Amino acid sequence: MSQNVTLIATAAMGLEAIVGKEVKALGYEDVQVENGRVFFEADVSAIPRANLWLRTADRVKLQVGRFKATSFDQLFEQTKALPWEDFIAEEGEFPVVGKSVKSKLYSVPDCQSIVKKAIVERLKVKHGATSWLKETGALHRVEVAIHKDEALLTLDTSGSGLHKRGYRVGQGEAPLKETLAAALVQITNWHPDHPFVDPFCGSGTIAIEAALIGQNIAPGFNREFASEDWHFIPQQAWEDAFQEAEEAANYDQPLNIVGSDIDPELIDISKKNAMEAGLGDLISWKQMQISDFNPKQDNGYVVSNPPYGERMGEREEVEQMYRDLGTIMRDHPSWSIYVLTSHEGFEKLYGKPATKRRKLFNGFIKTDYYQYFGKHVKAKPTSGKGFSV
Ligand SMILES: C[S@@+](CC[C@H](N)C(=O)[O-])C[C@H]1O[C@@H](n2cnc3c(N)ncnc32)[C@H](O)[C@@H]1O
Repeated sequence: MSQNVTLIATAAMGLEAIVGKEVKALGYEDVQVENGRVFFEADVSAIPRANLWLRTADRVKLQVGRFKATSFDQLFEQTKALPWEDFIAEEGEFPVVGKSVKSKLYSVPDCQSIVKKAIVERLKVKHGATSWLKETGALHRVEVAIHKDEALLTLDTSGSGLHKRGYRVGQGEAPLKETLAAALVQITNWHPDHPFVDPFCGSGTIAIEAALIGQNIAPGFNREFASEDWHFIPQQAWEDAFQEAEEAANYDQPLNIVGSDIDPELIDISKKNAMEAGLGDLISWKQMQISDFNPKQDNGYVVSNPPYGERMGEREEVEQMYRDLGTIMRDHPSWSIYVLTSHEGFEKLYGKPATKRRKLFNGFIKTDYYQYFGKHVKAKPTSGKGFSV
């Protein structure tokens, strides 16, 4: 089979451009950004690399085919015409999931079973199977996604979503997804030489993602991926990708990262999560309420996801926290402040319009990312190492 594949890095709404940038930073050139997806052409060795390195993508999928289908017959025949045997070995397990939006073929269960039947027919012939396919081997989750009568057939190379880095052993009430936390850090121009603080750190996600970025540690280094056992990806490609990640990590990069929170239990959880992420005591954790925050250095970054005040009875308290943050930061004009919240009155409470705002979804919650650029921030030094973006 050909060694080249079309891969799709899926992205949460609003993060597509950041995922696209990450894909390019890995060295892939033919990158196309669509709603929720970033397509790129690459050698199969990109499957291990993309899974290991993409910090802000949800999953990496492999495109098996894309075609127009307005009848079940068309869906069946065109699915059967695709080279499934190149990707699914005779023993491979291949459950089919599906979705359909604004399309003639709207019955998802029917689409799934037609796709399943077409793949079974194709594989039986191509693998010369005499009886039924046992499906006792590696898992290949097939997805049929139909949008405006165009079917996209993919295999999920990641397994569990890429936000599952493997370090979260505990969490608070409203933890950020690791992929979004990494995006919040990447949107800033923070460089690890500068102080970094999350004063509402909860279970520590933003600070941990910043540390992984700061030392150029591949976010997927401590987990497994569904495609590790796929027959058409040489084992060497996985070994090379892990080796490359090991060499690119800059464990000597000093970090100046602090996570603090009013809740001491969350500080304990953050410590455990950071330990699990292999960061040891690289991050300083501190139990502290926001009104006691008092930066001692210059040119630092606050990147945070405070409470939004959406719950009954907490609004006033939360609004006071935003005011406190604004009052404190007024005396530190060299600091850059980045706050994600759904509270539309944030800028007023903080006391200043943001330099820049960006709409982002935190799960299903519509939020804004308020960005205040510090006055004396030096230009970000360019790093010769790794793939940091
Ligand atoms: C939305 S959560 C942050 C979640 C975090 N990003 C994570 O991934 O786990 C907001 C955090 O603010 C903390 N908090 C609430 N009031 C605070 C205050 N006055 N000062 C500091 N932290 C506070 C809460 O304990 C909670 O952990």
